[in-house]
Amino acid sequence: MADVAYVNGAFMPLSEARVSVEDRGFQFGDGVYELLRVYDGRPFRPVEHLARLERSAAALGISLPYPRERWLALIDEAVARSGYAEGKVYIQVTRGAAPRDHAVGGPLSPTIVLTVRAYTPGEAALYTAGVDVVTVPDIRWGRCDIKSVCLLANVLAKQQARDAGAFEALFVRDGWVLEGATSNVMVVKDRRVLTPPEGPYLLSGITRQVTLAVAQKADIPVSELPLREADLYAADEVFLTGTTIEVLPVARVDGRRIGGGAPGPVTRSLMARFGESRA
Ligand code: PDD
Repeated sequence: MADVAYVNGAFMPLSEARVSVEDRGFQFGDGVYELLRVYDGRPFRPVEHLARLERSAAALGISLPYPRERWLALIDEAVARSGYAEGKVYIQVTRGAAPRDHAVGGPLSPTIVLTVRAYTPGEAALYTAGVDVVTVPDIRWGRCDIKSVCLLANVLAKQQARDAGAFEALFVRDGWVLEGATSNVMVVKDRRVLTPPEGPYLLSGITRQVTLAVAQKADIPVSELPLREADLYAADEVFLTGTTIEVLPVARVDGRRIGGGAPGPVTRSLMARFGESRA
């Protein structure tokens, strides 16, 4: 078993993978990405991730060089080469390499990077006790629906959370809670799951979609509506969703205890049902 990389048509050990210093991904953050989980040797929801990759690339005018079937085959081959049963597939497509100039100029050949690494599970205690989150001002641009590698505001927010001893930072814009630095956020109020609607200020998470579908199937009512910061503090339960964390309960927001301060019944039910959905 080994970390593998695929760069522009060739497989290699991850430690040997290289791209040009003139790559626009390196120079400008001019690229898009996806991260997907491998469970028991099988990629989870690859079609949904590839559909989002296509949307992100199209929004930036980057043309993906491979059709979806080739991506699917590539993911399968990379996972098989890695030998990891529990893994993470990272895909990055940048506009390509060219002498540094903000303007794109002529068409470039996109840089394709795909890596597979082992997945190391988060501490069980995070799931049994719930995590701390902090709210931070949303200083990101107006197209957070594009999964771009331009992640500076997310990087700073996540570090701010770490420095505060918290697991995640939740972006708040004009009093509206949008999403985490690397996750979507949901609250439970009176047994109803509430989450901010899709739009330019949040990423349409694949785990978010799966969780909402799983909730509906379990007859747990779901509403996508804007949430104020006060709705977080007053929630019965709060949880995060994301590819690497799945459904993760939140115990405290800005140091204030949510509900009983322990994972609530709806969150626990969704954690279990999410697990079943990928069996
Ligand atoms: N991030 N919102 C943001 C800003 C994210 O970065 C992510 C995931 C999500 C959740 O999306 P999904 O359920 O499709 O993973 C929401 C990945 C894991 C990352 O950047 O590594």
